[in-house]
Amino acid sequence: MQLIEEHTEARVQRDAPEILAIGGGKGGVGKTCLAVNLAVEIARRGWRVIIVDADLSCSNVETVLGTRSDRKLDDFFYQRGGKDLRQIVCETQYDNLQIIPGTTGLLDVANPRYQQKVALIRELQSLDADLIVVDLDAGAHLNTLDFYLMTETNGILVLTPEKTSIDNAYKFLRASLFRRVERFYQSPELALLLKRIESLREFLECVKTSSTFDGETKESVCNELVALARAMKPRIVVNRARNAYEAQIAANIFSKHARQNLLIEPENLGYLVFDNRVSETINSGMPLVVSYPKLKISQCIADLASRLGYF
Ligand SMILES: Nc1ncnc2c1ncn2[C@@H]1O[C@H](COP(=O)(O)OP(=O)(O)O)[C@@H](O)[C@H]1O
Ligand SMILES: [Mg+2]
Repeated sequence: MQLIEEHTEARVQRDAPEILAIGGGKGGVGKTCLAVNLAVEIARRGWRVIIVDADLSCSNVETVLGTRSDRKLDDFFYQRGGKDLRQIVCETQYDNLQIIPGTTGLLDVANPRYQQKVALIRELQSLDADLIVVDLDAGAHLNTLDFYLMTETNGILVLTPEKTSIDNAYKFLRASLFRRVERFYQSPELALLLKRIESLREFLECVKTSSTFDGETKESVCNELVALARAMKPRIVVNRARNAYEAQIAANIFSKHARQNLLIEPENLGYLVFDNRVSETINSGMPLVVSYPKLKISQCIADLASRLGYF
């Protein structure tokens, strides 16, 4: 399908593709809808995009995109000797858009080893594309956190204006930060301690008052922890908002929690309005930006693409 319109300005040459992970804790907040529509919109503008279905327990990018392929991410994880990821990249019906389909859900792939995940990320970085959009699982289990962290620390967090969704997105961010801390120090004891800690502030207090460290160690650990937190630059998208004002309030509440408790300053990337036609487009397998390009929600997706730098 020819989708490229007038967006033909010079493109920035990249050595490696940008990897954009889309997560956010709660299921049903719209991560997959956003991932697919953003990928289609950015591909439509002439960028080479690959969408990866990394929801290992419930993959459905193909359904939303309206594609079907016989190759799956399972092949990468379970092929003897490890299959070349490039062999799993499939074409879609859209120009410039390829897909790495999710797992079948049949194999024990929902729990790949850490090294397998590292291999996947390394292979992703070597793919020939401008942008790789990674659709993540709901929840904050290790696979999701590792994908979120191994790509970039400035992935997208999707939330809705509901309190439960804001809470879950916050917990996802906290779990990502704590996973980062745990991997930085490579310490099982620390991992156990982090399970009982509510916030980075509380953790910093624990370190400062600990009797096991001397003053100098305490200071350097605290500095390292603050640096690990500050390096995280999550970008938030509020979905299912009635209007920009409601989205802004949700973004503000989330950012306040993140700033006060985790010392992380999220960037508010934008929002998507609630629209009943979203489920219709899922059933038809024709993404919103293709079936209803003039709708407000499609405009919101176009704005996000621009704000990400893909004009
Ligand atoms: N902006 C929106 N307006 C209305 N419904 C939406 C919107 N975004 C998502 N949905 C609905 O929410 C459901 C969950 O979306 P999905 O992208 O699968 O969420 P997730 O990947 O976070 O689990 C879908 O059935 C979709 O119809
Ligand atoms: Mg999903």
